[in-house]
Amino acid sequence: MSIPRAHSGIDNIKPHMVGLARQSVPPAAIALNSNESAFGPSPYAREAARAASASMERYVENVDSILSPAIAEAHGLDVNRITCGQGSDDLIARLVRGYLGPGLALMRSANGYLKVPNYAHQANGAVIHVPDNNFTPSVDNMIAALNDSVKIVYLANPENPAGTYLTGQEVRQLHAAMPNHALMILDCAYEEYVDAPDYEPGHRLVRDASNVVTCRTFSKIHGLAGARVGWVYGPEDVIDTAKCLALTFPIATPSLAAALAALEDKAHTDFVRRENARLRTWLILELAGLGLNTIASQTNFVLIHMPDPGRSAEALDTALRSRGVALRRMASPAYRDHIRITIGFQHELQRALELIDQFVRGEI
Ligand SMILES: Cc1ncc(COP(=O)(O)O)c(C=O)c1O
Repeated sequence: MSIPRAHSGIDNIKPHMVGLARQSVPPAAIALNSNESAFGPSPYAREAARAASASMERYVENVDSILSPAIAEAHGLDVNRITCGQGSDDLIARLVRGYLGPGLALMRSANGYLKVPNYAHQANGAVIHVPDNNFTPSVDNMIAALNDSVKIVYLANPENPAGTYLTGQEVRQLHAAMPNHALMILDCAYEEYVDAPDYEPGHRLVRDASNVVTCRTFSKIHGLAGARVGWVYGPEDVIDTAKCLALTFPIATPSLAAALAALEDKAHTDFVRRENARLRTWLILELAGLGLNTIASQTNFVLIHMPDPGRSAEALDTALRSRGVALRRMASPAYRDHIRITIGFQHELQRALELIDQFVRGEI
């Protein structure tokens, strides 16, 4: 008996690219594995979500007429160039669905955000994985890899899982080499954490170009990962395409209320930014004190290098997990000797450091 078969692009999505290998493991007491914000959302956002849950029997009609103006005001952007969705991944997926197809390719930095190839496979498009420079996207390699099939150039800036970034000048150099018919998706999920002076916020290139969008999220600095709210800023025709591909009523009532309140609480956002920067610097120094190198990070996480096979990233992961601390390893072989740690509260990081110290000393 034959069964319905999905289209062939789906076959390229392997099980490890969909779920986590350790899905059945109980949640860790200290979760430093998913780049969420330990600091959580603004208390006003929590309260707004709680209050909004009283009217969950209603759909949120036209979320863009409510949330986009608030985003436009908070960021000084044109409201007509914004649309919102279920996290920035929803918007990336929609854009890939809208612009990619058989015979067309999405170009990405080989060790960049690992979810994006799935969206290309879902659209039956090809993926060009461009070699990087020690986990920093290589503009030269990306320019050299451009060809007529490239319809989307996807760049996370800063990157996940490495935390590296490209300067504004480098991003513009890549963009200048792209044909106008190709779309650049500049994924700036971690933009608020960046303090490098030569970084350029994604929306500036959107302003100056006709084929660039920037995706943003409430999941990171606003601490609303579970609410699933993101937005994209781009040329009006691209935004219209993203709107056409939306689910009906894409954002839940409490999530919308939380996002609106989060935008208002600038003091909380500033606090999280400052605290993240302080703890990131401290953590990197502490790790160096244990003899461990890290990749320079502009985000709310740090990638640790574990080159000693006798003290591997995998063994560290297992040792910490069994003691209630979750870090993140990546399925890609390029990251075999690395493990990522999210910036949590200081006491959480302190506990992780104690265990890492014991691990490198061979005590656990
Ligand atoms: C680079 C990058 N883009 C997008 C996302 C997805 O974020 P969201 O929760 O907004 O879907 C993530 C999540 O970790 C990410 O690291």
